[in-house]
Amino acid sequence: VSSLPEYSKEEVAKHRTPEDRVWVTYKEGVYDITDWVDIHPGGKARLMMAAGSAIDPFWSMYQQHNTQQVRDILEGYRIGSLEGGAPPPPEDPYADDPKDRLPALIVRSARPMNAEPPRELLTGSVITPTEVFYIRNHLPVPRIDEAQYSLRIEGQGIKTLDLSLDRLKAEFRKHTVTATVQCSGNRRNDFYAVKDVKGLEWGGAAIGTAVWGGVRLGEVLQAAGLDPGAEGVRHVQFFGADADGAGQAYAASIPVHRALDPRADVLLAYEMNGAPLTRDHGAPLRVIVPGTAGCRSVKWVTKVVPSGEEADSLWQRRDYKAFSPSVGWDEVDWDSAPAIQAMPVTSLICEPAPGARVEPEDLVTVKGYAWSGGGNRVIRVDVTADGGATWHTAELEGVEQEEGRNWAWVLWSAEVEVPGTPGEVEIAAKATDASYNTQPEAPGPIWNLRGVNCNSWPRIRIVAEE
Ligand code: MTE
Repeated sequence: VSSLPEYSKEEVAKHRTPEDRVWVTYKEGVYDITDWVDIHPGGKARLMMAAGSAIDPFWSMYQQHNTQQVRDILEGYRIGSLEGGAPPPPEDPYADDPKDRLPALIVRSARPMNAEPPRELLTGSVITPTEVFYIRNHLPVPRIDEAQYSLRIEGQGIKTLDLSLDRLKAEFRKHTVTATVQCSGNRRNDFYAVKDVKGLEWGGAAIGTAVWGGVRLGEVLQAAGLDPGAEGVRHVQFFGADADGAGQAYAASIPVHRALDPRADVLLAYEMNGAPLTRDHGAPLRVIVPGTAGCRSVKWVTKVVPSGEEADSLWQRRDYKAFSPSVGWDEVDWDSAPAIQAMPVTSLICEPAPGARVEPEDLVTVKGYAWSGGGNRVIRVDVTADGGATWHTAELEGVEQEEGRNWAWVLWSAEVEVPGTPGEVEIAAKATDASYNTQPEAPGPIWNLRGVNCNSWPRIRIVAEE
């Protein structure tokens, strides 16, 4: 390294395009990454944000990408050192993240915070206590002063509205809905067992059910003058107050018919389980799209935009889409698949714990949750302890909801007899929804490179011994 030339920041800044070569710095190192740009798994655009400058601020924002493996790849592109040595380390963008998170949460990434509860905490009650509810953040948690807060409604064919929280509460009827929110990466760990994927290794608890209180999105859009029959308006885009290193806000969109349908219960929510939203869950206002992948329920929402187009964000156009198991990173055509909206029927076994010891012929109580997207009711959960030779139908517990607006999960419980011979016992379950859709037996045939929508039979192994 000491024999490599030194470059000034100004010299590095001249290298921002493939024609001029793409250079970046990390700490005191200078790197020519031109040949890496096209094969960067996060996409060319993300890498090009740092072209001609330091990647340190981006890596302090996206700490999950700053791994030894990535630093080793980068080291292969080293061409020199920065004059004057390493710049001071960037300020920690996560310094202001909430500090009061439940210690029992299992942290899948700390910066940004991504955490799920131990699965056995999910079956305590149909409503998940707020502090137990999984947290899925892509960026630092914004701090929003409620008194200063205002929501902008603007876009095609409507008049622009700026609504303070007080105005929103005063001018629109309060509506509450009990809805499950699930990350489409939930249960990704079952895909990891098949073949490597890119994404947080969620167990099965990136899901929870809460009573959300707020106003109907459709009523706010109609107050802004949106004509339900308006030609050309196809989507409603949402923007969050959290923004990435290049200033792009977290954004997602849903089809306009869902946004306007009063029976789809899409909310601009300011309450979770009877209390104001916490910072981690989107304070002071978030979108709740029942029956739909969690990524569309934009937190810290600052802007709502009816449009002819889907949101132009990575989270809408790339990240939350599923492809054939044979499509890899080299051939994926992101535009060829629709963004995930309603989610497929799924379930999880939350108890007993994997590895639990029982006696042969014991009756074991097996508990879990089951949920289906799009408002589809879960009509049955079947449980087997003998590889599917016999099935036990579970008791279901849930909340009363109108048919087709079954936004909340059910908790289930079944008594299952383990075989008479000692040894490992695999317990599996499958849920069926009102459309008679049921879960696939194995994750292999639904594996996809982003690891989304894993809904194969949940399985656990326990041990029967004398
Ligand atoms: N909204 C914003 N502004 N920023 C985010 O990172 N994450 C999304 C969604 N809304 C996210 C967001 C994802 S992927 C999920 S699954 C849910 O929020 C998680 O909501 P929760 O953290 O309240 O459980």
